Amino acid sequence: MGISSNAPYLLRAARGEVLDRPPVWMMRQAGRYMKAYRDLREKYPSFRDRSEIPEVAIEISLQPWKAFQPDGVILFSDIVTPLPGLGIDMDIAEGKGPIIHSPIRTSEQIDNLHTLEPEESLPFIKTILQALRQEVGNESTVLGFVGAPWTLAAYAVEGKGSKTYSVIKNMAFSNPTLLDKLLTKFADAIAIYVRYQIDCGAQVVQMFDSWAGQLSPQDYETFALPYQQRVFQQVRETHPDTPLILLVSGSAGLLERMAISGADVITVDWTVDMADARERLGKHLKVQGNLDPGVLFGSKEFIRDRIYDTVRKAGNKGHILNLGHGVLPETPEENVAFFFETAKQLSSAVV
Ligand code: CP3
Repeated sequence: MGISSNAPYLLRAARGEVLDRPPVWMMRQAGRYMKAYRDLREKYPSFRDRSEIPEVAIEISLQPWKAFQPDGVILFSDIVTPLPGLGIDMDIAEGKGPIIHSPIRTSEQIDNLHTLEPEESLPFIKTILQALRQEVGNESTVLGFVGAPWTLAAYAVEGKGSKTYSVIKNMAFSNPTLLDKLLTKFADAIAIYVRYQIDCGAQVVQMFDSWAGQLSPQDYETFALPYQQRVFQQVRETHPDTPLILLVSGSAGLLERMAISGADVITVDWTVDMADARERLGKHLKVQGNLDPGVLFGSKEFIRDRIYDTVRKAGNKGHILNLGHGVLPETPEENVAFFFETAKQLSSAVV
């Protein structure tokens, strides 16, 4: 079945194998906390250049690989990267995040969205993923990622990041048919994009529904979950062997609902005890997480204790060790190095 003991750890954990230590990687492991990244950012001040010029994106993706040898190497990109291919122009502003110049507010704008043709609009993704696979071989797992329909729609409709999500919630609660039309189109485009990433070399794909935790559980069931399911189902039809991970930020009230999304692995954040998460999710689901990114501001002893505690609670089957969300830009690089070293020295004997 292509599952063999020389498959990299992350892939094996995502498939539910019992391992002597959990694989470890970090969300946002390439980025501002690394001096190497900040230096390169001076040379390439535009985020779109950094993520869309293949040589630059490859170099950035490999910076944490070279520094820490994580068990997962994630493509350096952004969740809004496919939007221009749908006809939605965007930029990523320093310190702010995505900016959509003409936010989507009307039925006509939704009708005018293009079908995603990744070979045409995202050729750099293929170059990047192929190079990453070539570079890490069997020593690590190459992860692709996408944004989920709700979270991408939040950017497309609001036009930028938001604290209150007033514009998209206004649409959701006053014109749900219009929002359904957008979410359905996004789901189909995202499924195409996930398949493309897998065909280009991604061995595991994580879907970020970062802002779905802003919805009440009832509204999550209407505006997030069905479209997550639509993406995962479509990908599963053609690529049944590729593990899929789901992340929702602030998901403590949603775990049981995430469990029926169709994802193989559920990212757990630090607002939930890992042992409780295991109970709530059930045996068939794998988990990823769940240290508070702020733990990396603590002493080495503190970091080590929190790693041990998490690994003990998660057990030795189907756990990918990670933070509960992205590493913070102010994090000392030395503590990131310590996190990886400690995790890679773990064995069932230690914990
Ligand atoms: O994990 C990795 O190492 C891959 C890199 C990655 C980026 N964006 C690079 C990036 C990933 C996985 C993303 C996904 C992403 N982008 C998400 C989902 C993850 C999450 O945090 O929940 C979201 C919501 C976005 C949208 C976005 N793009 C935001 C909120 C920001 C940050 C704004 C800021 O400056 O704090 C961005 C910009 C961005 N994307 C940065 C990075 C490293 C920071 C800007 C920079 O370094 O120049």
